[in-house]
Amino acid sequence: MKTLILTTDKKDIETAARIIREGGLVAFPTETVYGLGADALNADAVARVYEAKGRPSDNPMIVHIARASDIGQLTRMLSPDIVSLIDNFWPGPLTLVVKKKPSVPDRTTGGLDTVAVRLPDSGPAIDLINMAGCPIAAPSANLSGSPSPTRAKDVIADLDGKVDAIIVGDDCRVGIESTVLDLTGEVPTILRPGIITAESIEAALGKEVVYDKSLTEAAKHVQADPADGVSESDFKPKSPGMKYKHYAPKADMLVVEGQRDKVIAEIERLKTLNERLGNKVGVILFEERAFIEAAHDFFAKLRDMDSEGVDMILAGALSDTDGVGFAVMNRMLKSAGYNITKV
Ligand code: TXA
Ligand code: MG
Repeated sequence: MKTLILTTDKKDIETAARIIREGGLVAFPTETVYGLGADALNADAVARVYEAKGRPSDNPMIVHIARASDIGQLTRMLSPDIVSLIDNFWPGPLTLVVKKKPSVPDRTTGGLDTVAVRLPDSGPAIDLINMAGCPIAAPSANLSGSPSPTRAKDVIADLDGKVDAIIVGDDCRVGIESTVLDLTGEVPTILRPGIITAESIEAALGKEVVYDKSLTEAAKHVQADPADGVSESDFKPKSPGMKYKHYAPKADMLVVEGQRDKVIAEIERLKTLNERLGNKVGVILFEERAFIEAAHDFFAKLRDMDSEGVDMILAGALSDTDGVGFAVMNRMLKSAGYNITKV
């Protein structure tokens, strides 16, 4: 398939919107990562997204809307919590999981009776949704399993020839995907951490929010001794997309955790050793507590190292238990397939 490469000019977005209306696939920038969009209410179009990404069909999509009131097309009941979250965080990188209306195709929600909804804080994304005149289902615009794309060139590398069009916009401001918050249970539950933190959601709601058990269990597993025998089933996540291995670079990756000086020394030692063995080694070591910057750069660094042919990536763990650093660590540990060493 020939992929059209488009700009963010209105005329090009109109072309992209027409493709979406006709059931085609368009990759577009958002403030978090690039998304691969299709008409969320067209089951055949959504099926093509799964195919292009090589994504398992039980993994539901986030539905993007252009006006907060459009959430009414997707769900019936707006609880006071939903309304305050919309007021506080939209447009922005917070996805709300709510009960779905029957008109939302099962394809879009992976067969679940809930739907994930988000109003992105990105001009081109909003223009595209508005001009298409339908909600747009969009997972991240990468091949399933590989790092999320934060730059147009990353999207082109993964999807050129597999989708109808790619809108080339600016690099994504946030760099990691939205926070996913489930509002269908008794307690608001974070299914995927992002730059909108548990603390800020609690402040907006005036009540406690919790993390899905798989997130905290995974962290425990990392802190535990392998001999403790924590089983993989303990991490069975409620969000089907939060798979055990994900965002994986081509290189082997090891996360080094511990006190900062020791982490730096261990990374240096492992780097020298591995280079002596003829391996090309890449290092990811963010400034201490520079979590926003880490979020912005993390996926781009993985992709750059892949294109440089790096064999092994050594990454310094971020010490943060529930803020933006925790969200980046969630991605880092998955990228490394939970391959971690403590110093
Ligand atoms: O920032 C983002 O959220 C980006 C941009 C493009 O908006 N999108 C994105 O989509 O990251 P994706 O498909 O890569 O991740 C969606 C996540 C997955 O973990 C999926 O399982 C979860 O949201 N999800 C979607 N619908 C859900 C639902 N109804 N219940 C629970 N989890 C859901
Ligand atoms: Mg994704």
